[in-house]
Amino acid sequence: MADFDGKAPSAGRFEVIRYGFGRSRLGWRCAAVAFLKCLLFAAVVCVAHASGRPGHAAIASAHPLATQAGFEILDQGGNAFDAAIAISAVLAVVEPQSSGIGGGGFWLLRRAADGKTVMLDGRETAPLAARPDMYLDTRGEPRLSASLDGALAAGIPGLPAALVRLSKDYGRLPLAKSLAPAIRHAENGFAVGLRYAKAAKDRESALRQSPAASAIFLDQGIAPQPGFHLVQKDLAKTLRRIARFGHAGFYGGTTARLLVQGVKDAGGIWQAGDLAGYRALERAPVQGMYRGIRITSAGPPSSGGTVLLEALNILSGYDLARMDALTRKHLVIEAERRAYRDRDLYLGDPAFVNMPLNRLLSAAYAAGLRVAIRPDRALPSAALAAAPEASRQGDDTSHFSLIDRHGNLVAATLSINNSFGSGFVPPGTGVLLNDEMDDFATAPGRPNAYGLVGGGANAIAPGKRMLSSMSPTFLETKDRTAVLGTPGGSRIISMVLLAVLDFAEGRGPESWVSVGRFHHQYLPDVVEYEPGGLSDEDIRGLESRGHRLKPTGYRYGDMHAVQWDRVRNRLSAASDPRGEGVAEVK
Ligand code: DON
Repeated sequence: MADFDGKAPSAGRFEVIRYGFGRSRLGWRCAAVAFLKCLLFAAVVCVAHASGRPGHAAIASAHPLATQAGFEILDQGGNAFDAAIAISAVLAVVEPQSSGIGGGGFWLLRRAADGKTVMLDGRETAPLAARPDMYLDTRGEPRLSASLDGALAAGIPGLPAALVRLSKDYGRLPLAKSLAPAIRHAENGFAVGLRYAKAAKDRESALRQSPAASAIFLDQGIAPQPGFHLVQKDLAKTLRRIARFGHAGFYGGTTARLLVQGVKDAGGIWQAGDLAGYRALERAPVQGMYRGIRITSAGPPSSGGTVLLEALNILSGYDLARMDALTRKHLVIEAERRAYRDRDLYLGDPAFVNMPLNRLLSAAYAAGLRVAIRPDRALPSAALAAAPEASRQGDDTSHFSLIDRHGNLVAATLSINNSFGSGFVPPGTGVLLNDEMDDFATAPGRPNAYGLVGGGANAIAPGKRMLSSMSPTFLETKDRTAVLGTPGGSRIISMVLLAVLDFAEGRGPESWVSVGRFHHQYLPDVVEYEPGGLSDEDIRGLESRGHRLKPTGYRYGDMHAVQWDRVRNRLSAASDPRGEGVAEVK
């Protein structure tokens, strides 16, 4: 953890920035200058505090180069939104396994000057030629990898449009300046880490199917080792076109022509109109209260905020802090079971489906659901509906959280879905395309890569946005403001839920990102837990209450969080110990 007071970090990865003026041998003049500087510094802190601003900035992101780029842009006079552009674009370059300009995301924003709070929706859309049965064969059976690998798996990217809009509507610097660090890293290259190497090994065969992807991301057709120097010249060119022409630099002209041609040649269904018609949208986030905490999170087409708030509404009927640890976990699991069920039943793209959001988020609805929760017994999901089985999921999405010295907030979760997305790069673009089409309900009753089963609300339709679990979130009490989120597929929401409960207990970012994780998503009817996520006693206790448990065998998630303690005017930030991220306060 990094914090303003320079508290001792618990892990070597965290950098702590201290404030002060080095005690070198100063002459009287230097001492006087230093004294005046101290006075000035104290005055700045006082003014910042009095005016309700942190006076400093905190950034936590999934990669050291992204955190660095955020501060670089702040140092050049940019605000949190310019920094968010730089971080998003650098993550797109240095974590190609997790997010990219061939993907999308959600940026939750708070502008300090007027308090405007909005979700910028850069979620991918289904191409206009998409059909509900496009991933079924002639016998109506799912074609298993068609929504995961190759050109047909890709939705129309939203990340470039969102960055352009972020710059135009909220930034202070020219877009070209905010994109400069990403262009530099794409052009000059950087050394890949262990996560990249592992993900490339996992997705080696999909990447090999695409000559352009293989040439960029593999080392002569083989997944590279950590330390491999990854250079992305074509991506640098595409980023430069966005820097120069804005929206049209990606969705029109050379880039659009290369993208559409490349997708078509590889059996995909994109048309020029898909790109020309794409827009990033501003949406109202969902908001609710839990024990004095105002929660603001992603609204549809993400299910994240809705499921999170529904689960918290159910839990608000219990005094968790006074309960034994086992009953508390049991109730969290039962709340998740019900909230995730409603995800599957009701949620989708608001432009296509009417969702009973007011009802789902009402206290009365939560009270109704609580009636059937027994504190000593699991209610099988089959008692609520039939239960198909599910599969594995990684952390192949990215998140960052930031607060600038003015008090502007950004929580952003970015994705190309699975590791290295579809594994497909249209030649000449350097753009690795997402496989976000798999987030739709691609066949009735068929679980997607995260085991999520959807119905008609999340069926494929031309131009529709696929339902997401991404949950960039703000938490606010009268004393504290927190910004957080994580990758992790369907488990994103349960990870954020555990972090909110930890925040409610008064703990800080280092604790939220480290908390042991367990998860239930209604279907399959199983409690997944990471190593250390449940104690032996928890496991025995939950089993005796009728839960089926399944260890994941690996630790999951990559949460990044910042907090502003407004009473002490103290910033703190933490990156998940499971990942490679860096959190800093400056
Ligand atoms: O939008 C979603 O919910 C997914 N595409 C997120 C994917 C993710 O977090 C990948 N990690 N396993």
